Amino acid sequence: MQVQQTGDVTRDWYTRFAAHEARGQSAIYEAWAVGVAGDDEVLDRIRELPRPKRQPNLVFACSRLLGAPEGSYGEWREWLLAHWPAVADAALHRSTQTNEPRRCAVMLPLLARIDGPIALLEVGASAGLCLYPDRYAYRYDDGSVLGDTVLGASDVLLECATTGPVPLPARMPEIAWRAGIDLAPLDADDADDMRWLETLIWPEQVERRERIRRAIEVARREPARLVAGDGRERLREVAAGAPANATLVVFHAGTIVYLGRDDRAAFADAVRALAADRGRTHWISLEGQGVTPGVQPDGTAPSSTFALAFDGDLVAFAGPHGQSLDWLG
Ligand SMILES: C[S@@+](CC[C@H](N)C(=O)[O-])C[C@H]1O[C@@H](n2cnc3c(N)ncnc32)[C@H](O)[C@@H]1O
Repeated sequence: MQVQQTGDVTRDWYTRFAAHEARGQSAIYEAWAVGVAGDDEVLDRIRELPRPKRQPNLVFACSRLLGAPEGSYGEWREWLLAHWPAVADAALHRSTQTNEPRRCAVMLPLLARIDGPIALLEVGASAGLCLYPDRYAYRYDDGSVLGDTVLGASDVLLECATTGPVPLPARMPEIAWRAGIDLAPLDADDADDMRWLETLIWPEQVERRERIRRAIEVARREPARLVAGDGRERLREVAAGAPANATLVVFHAGTIVYLGRDDRAAFADAVRALAADRGRTHWISLEGQGVTPGVQPDGTAPSSTFALAFDGDLVAFAGPHGQSLDWLG
């Protein structure tokens, strides 16, 4: 769908967000984004922020964190103008770190085919909720549930609709070690961090919010090692902690989009070099189409879907939140 662009980057960002991201997902965010795009007074405030911080998702979440009413654009606008300094401060100090455990449903078919033990290392881990694929339960289409084998049946059920020859897993992967790197890891035991994580879920998405609350409990029971830092710089050092007998799986989801193009290429080279040096190492990438260097979409999948790649080869397209998986023939 074409949306009218004006050449004003901030206004156009909100217009695109309304049309391509919020529509069908959050009527509240869609109305707020349409409202902002046509409101010069609010746009002037938002333009005071450095460009990356003008992100609709970030501004909206910061406002809700601080108590903005989740109602009409008019109510929200009035609140925002009255509380702008606090919202701006929150936007400057926070970033969007949405953690979506359902992405495990998309990675599980790949993980289940790898002989264990597996050492799982996520770059851009946020609170680490994607580090527990073996602790969740899964339902693909209307099929039976593949449940947790260690902690009893998991109450985190991840449902995923599939098309194509998905190699549906018949067993759980054996994960012996889990670690994550993030610029600013969120702590499952920190109430403020978890409130931010929940606020990043859009207002009407009650089911997603429930799911991450339950996944947070899993992370609390079995804390993973989360390292603060840049994934490009700390990859080798953190990977060195993986047990030598384990197959290392480096993965990232919705993360390297935050790097510039050259940095994405340098990161991909670093993962390949690590795999070549260490051996027994695989690379799973779940990113927007065209984001992971060398993983070229063929133009057949909707642009909103993510590309799933194994060792640099495109294997499937997936819903951005892991809600669907379209395996390539
Ligand atoms: C949108 S979140 C995705 C979280 C998680 N991968 C998931 O799929 O649920 C992206 C995360 O990547 C982190 N991030 C961005 N650039 C990074 C970098 N260069 N090194 C490490 N983490 C980074 C952010 O802090 C954020 O927590």
